[in-house]
Order: sequence, then C-alpha cells, then structure tokens
Amino acid sequence: MNQETLRFAQSNEAKFIENLKNLVKIPSVSFPGFDPQFVVNSAEAVAGLLRSSGLQNVEILRIKDAHPYVYGEWMNAPGKPTLLLYAHHDVQPAGRESLWNSPPFEAIERDGRLYGRGTADDKCGAVIHASAIWSCLKTEGKLPLNVKMIVEGEEEIGSPHLEEFLKAYHQKMQADAMILTDTGNYDTGIPSITTSLRGIASVDVLVRASDHPLHSGMWGGPVVDPVQALSKMIASLTDKDGKMTIPGIYSKVRALSKAEAQSLKSLKYSEKDFRKQAQILPKTKIIGGKDLLNSLWNEPSLSVNAIQASSKKDCANIINEAAWCHIGIRLVPHMDPKQTLESLKKALLKAAPWGVTVEFSNGHASPAWLAEAEGTAFQAASRALEKGFGRKTVFIGCGGSIPFVGPFSKVLGGVPAILIGAEDPYTNPHSENESLHLGDFFKSIQSAIHLYEEMSNISARVKSAEGRFSRVLSKV
Ligand code: BES
Ligand code: MN
Repeated sequence: MNQETLRFAQSNEAKFIENLKNLVKIPSVSFPGFDPQFVVNSAEAVAGLLRSSGLQNVEILRIKDAHPYVYGEWMNAPGKPTLLLYAHHDVQPAGRESLWNSPPFEAIERDGRLYGRGTADDKCGAVIHASAIWSCLKTEGKLPLNVKMIVEGEEEIGSPHLEEFLKAYHQKMQADAMILTDTGNYDTGIPSITTSLRGIASVDVLVRASDHPLHSGMWGGPVVDPVQALSKMIASLTDKDGKMTIPGIYSKVRALSKAEAQSLKSLKYSEKDFRKQAQILPKTKIIGGKDLLNSLWNEPSLSVNAIQASSKKDCANIINEAAWCHIGIRLVPHMDPKQTLESLKKALLKAAPWGVTVEFSNGHASPAWLAEAEGTAFQAASRALEKGFGRKTVFIGCGGSIPFVGPFSKVLGGVPAILIGAEDPYTNPHSENESLHLGDFFKSIQSAIHLYEEMSNISARVKSAEGRFSRVLSKV
C-alpha cells in the first residue's frame, strides 16, 4: 500500500470536513412537500465534488419524476475489477427544529462529532469515496482498479423509481462488486460489514367517522370518536408483551445457523449497551425477547411512525372527524413484502370498530436482504477495514432498510454487495441532532484507500465465482 496516499489523506482531513459541510448546507429532503429544487442543487454539488475528485464522465442521471442520481467513473485500469460505489445524497426532514442544538443544515463540530442532517446518513458516504479517490489520484495519478460511483437522490423515500432506473441504466452500472456506504459500525471505532438488512411494508391509514369536527359536549356520547377507533385498531396488532398478533407474521422467521448464533453471542451485547446507545428511559421496559441483537436484526417489528388528529395548537373540546397514522412493519428474509402489507391492512380492517371508514394510501413494500459473507471480496473488504481502523472487522446485521441493494446486485448478476459506513450507535439518524463521529469518518477514508488496493487483487471474475453470495430472499 502506498503510505504516501494514506498520509496525504490524513493531512487533508480538514478539507474533507469542508466538503461534507458544503453538501450538508443544501437541505436535500426528498419527501413530498419539500422543495425538490434542493435535491437538484444537491445533485449538482455532488457532481462538482466528484469532478474535482478526479472522477470522469460525471453526469446527473434523470428518470422522469424522480429526484436526480449522480454518476461518475474512473475506468483506466484495464484488466482490473470494477467496483460500483453507492451512496445517497437525499436526506430525511429535519424534524422539530427547536430540538436541534445547532441548525440542522449547518454542519457544526462539537466534541469530535459533526452535527447536521445528512452528515452521517448519507452525505458522508459520497465524501468518503470522493476523498479516497482524490487522495489516490493526487499522489499516484491512478487508482488500482476501476470505479463507478452512483449517488442516489430518493433513498429516504424508498427508491420509488428504482425499477425504471435499472431499466435505463443497468448496462452503465455493470461491475464486479458493489460497495454500499450507507450502513454503520457495531460501535464507535469498530469496523463492520453489514450482511443483512430488514425490509419494510408500510402504509398511511385514515379513519373517518363524520363530516367535520363536532363539539364534544354537544355531541359527545353517541358520536364515534375516530381517534379511539384508530387506537383500538393499532392496539389490536400486538399482545401485552408487544408481540404482533397478525396471523402468520412470525412464520418466516428463520432459525439461526450455529455459526450465526455463535457470531451473535461473540458480540456480547448487553441490555446495558442497548439502553446506553438508544437512551431508553430507565423505567421503560425492553420488549420482544431477551436476545436483543437477534430481535433487531432477524425478527420483524411494528412501529407507528406518526399519528395525527387535530393538533396540540388547535386542541379544543371536539370530537375529530378523522384520525390518521403511518404504520410499518420491518421485514426479515423470506417474508413477502406485498403479502405482509396486505396482512397488515387486513388486520387493521378487521379491528375497525363502530362502522368507521378506513382508507389506505402510500403503501410501500420492499424486501429484506441477506448476504453469505464469504469469498475473496468480503475477505478483501474485511482486511481493508481492519487496516483503516486498526481493529478487527466484525460482521453484523442491520435493522434498517436500503431498497436499492437487492434489486441492484441482482441486475449485476448477483455480484457481492458489501455494506459499510461511518454511522455509529450514537449517530441518531432520522432524529434530531444527527451526527457523524469524525474519527470514524477519517478511518473510513483510510479504509476506502485500502479497499481499492485490496479489491484490485481479487479476480475480475469474482462476479461469476461469488454470484451466489448476494441475493434477495423474497420477491417484491
Ligand atoms: N442509512 C439508512 C439505513 C440504515 C439504518 C443503516 C440504520 C444503518 C442503520 C437508510 O438511509 C434508511 O434510513 N433507509 C430507510 C429506507 C426506507 C425509506 C425504505 C429506512 O430504513 O427507513
Ligand atoms: Mn442512508
């Protein structure tokens, strides 16, 4: 490995932080109702960063009605493997601005962390590779292998145009392995490769009882309260221990292999670790079984992400005319996403009391993903992380979802998909005060430099040799 490149990257860490800050400044929220022009501006800024890092043929890829993707490549290593590097530049909404300790779209350093929406999820994913590529090209004038980089603009809304994107660009995306830099580490400073993701089935539910709000004194009693109706419907989905009651919902949960069980055990994760990382209030119970990591990574879970009827500001003595919620189930491998969505809707309808009307909209269903993390590509990536972090790499699961992974690696002929990233358990993604641990950011850049070198030595035919190691285990 070229020590000069590693040192050069180290001496430019301040510049890499600046590059990340410049991306965070752009509020590229992909959610409906937010100005999509910011996502376009963000794509242009990412394209600028890729260009100035030395990537070639940088362009913004557009699919009708989709937020823009950014593409760049460096394909001047004939005979060497090609890596497809993935990140996303869209972000979640900021949430309640009053709860941020510093402005969400102005990245600010505090105690070794960089605070701001998208610092970790996932603008750092693009900056990590841009920084590593720039460092290699500046010091050596070349990369040890070929790279293609794709930075998506609609990941946080479930990649709704993925199919069209793949239809249009699958040829352009061909590669021997994928590196997705959008997951995290088991703990701060512990390099990790994620080998499973949960999928998700989610939907908006609207319960209606009357035409308009009614005075709760004048009408209260005989009039159906849609908030109570929705509450009963939601409550019917779980038992007293928090386990879901939807028929068949756990039928596809697989028993872990001996090796998997052993690997989980060796991580020695305790309830104390869990409480500290998630900052659960001391008296609040932990539900859903004793084995926390297994529950997070390998079992389905239910959450109500938002609920609404009137508001704190407009709260008055009324019976609301309607109540709304967004509800979702995280899926594990072998669960059918569409079927799970149907089962969820059916269970809600079955529990709907008093003749209320129930409308569903914005349904989303994407599958879980599982890799058999064996073979030379995973070994090379594991060595690279070990060198960059100075610690042994661990293999972990992830309770989150990235809809892009399964369909993409399939279109690429089942090439290995290696999931890494700089998020740690204190990152707070999707919440207020999201942050990136800067030490892990720099180590991730060093690891990426090692990764290009390590992966350049694996056979360019890794694709056919290891095709079976990356697959989606359920159909959409
Ligand atoms: N980066 C996350 C996935 C993730 C979550 C990685 C937790 C590591 C730990 C990703 O950007 C994300 O949040 N995805 C969405 C996908 C959904 C919109 C289909 C998710 O999991 O909610
Ligand atoms: Mn992400």
